[in-house]
Amino acid sequence: MGGPAVRTRPFTVWPIFGRSEEKGLLRVLRGGKWGRLDGTEVAGFERRFAAAHGCRHGIAMVNGTVSLRLALMAAGLKADDEVIIPPYTFFSTASAVVEANAVPVFADIDLVTFNLAPAAVSAALTRRTRALIPVHFAGQPADMDPLLRLAKKHGLIVLEDAAHAHGASYKNRPAGSIGHLGSFSFQSSKNLTSGEGGIITTNDEKLAEACRSLHNCGRVPNGVWYEHHVISGNYRLSEFHGAVLNAQLERLAEQTRRRDRNGQYLAARLALLPGLYPQKRPAFCTRHSYHLFMLRLDAREFGAPRAAVLRALQAEGIPCSPGYGFSLHHQPFFRRRAFGPYLPQTRARLDYRRTDCPNSERICREEGVWLGQNLFLGSRADMDDIFRAFEKVHEQRAALRALNKGAAHR
Ligand SMILES: Cc1ncc(COP(=O)(O)O)c(C=O)c1O
Repeated sequence: MGGPAVRTRPFTVWPIFGRSEEKGLLRVLRGGKWGRLDGTEVAGFERRFAAAHGCRHGIAMVNGTVSLRLALMAAGLKADDEVIIPPYTFFSTASAVVEANAVPVFADIDLVTFNLAPAAVSAALTRRTRALIPVHFAGQPADMDPLLRLAKKHGLIVLEDAAHAHGASYKNRPAGSIGHLGSFSFQSSKNLTSGEGGIITTNDEKLAEACRSLHNCGRVPNGVWYEHHVISGNYRLSEFHGAVLNAQLERLAEQTRRRDRNGQYLAARLALLPGLYPQKRPAFCTRHSYHLFMLRLDAREFGAPRAAVLRALQAEGIPCSPGYGFSLHHQPFFRRRAFGPYLPQTRARLDYRRTDCPNSERICREEGVWLGQNLFLGSRADMDDIFRAFEKVHEQRAALRALNKGAAHR
């Protein structure tokens, strides 16, 4: 409304890089071994990333969408098997299932943790269910023990979608090591990045071998170059990516601790304001990686719709967004069953318009607010600025309401 903004300085810019990334890239460039079949960067990164996440095996690949799909294929999913996923997640969690020729089945999330609700998973089980994909949304682990119990009882594969959860932990168990398989993304916004990239983690020797084969044109470890044992493609990561990831990995532990410290501090402060509900952190979350800082906002407390509150926060210098505008099961490709060559017979009996996930829908439509991970790499003073901006917008809610009413009448 024309007054001075709470924040005029920029927040920490992402990605962060330095001499080690530059040296790594030049090392690969000048060494002439640019592909993973020739060099040692990707192989070394796989070992170090897997070990840092409590796993014996890591198979790096071109992105975190492919890693989800290949993990499902390695697990031996058959056509028309059902895979339970949350509706509050990125497109890839579902597309990977369809591209593995399996059927995504939605189970709602918990309203306060934003992660898959075990009771909803239980209700979504059928005799066709073969796998579950808990997403550690925003970087907070899903409640894995009840999910693992259900999986054991029903003989299901558990694939953790840990695209947001580098360095996060559940009861001190690293994300990516809790289910049968884990999948991470190194896309440019992620907490560990090489621009694009992904990895599958596992402690299961056989699954690791299958993933390795699937990401390398169906070749087998120690096999002959021109011998392809299963249908697949080339999803290998380049050595340039490997070099950047090796340098980035050196920074991850400290950055994760900093994000977690700042995130916890901000969550505690914001929870004191009326109408703000930061993602609830149960005791089982022993490390939150804060890829996103998420909260629910009760717009009634602010006298104006979420979009108006976010615009006011942005005017105060706080980058923020409403996140997903609608729940994944409402995507046009689900409504239209636009599955390309996949699920040719099954699609006729699928009707995603009947899927009902009220918590996810409510968060998408009305309440969700996201702040990006880069904000949490700064100082406590940065957190105080974010808090102050929310507080100021709340204090000015009468003006915001008047402004919004005026806008509605124009
Ligand atoms: C929850 C989740 N799963 C999977 C992915 C896919 O990763 P990528 O972009 O590397 O394909 C993303 C990426 O944004 C994601 O947020």
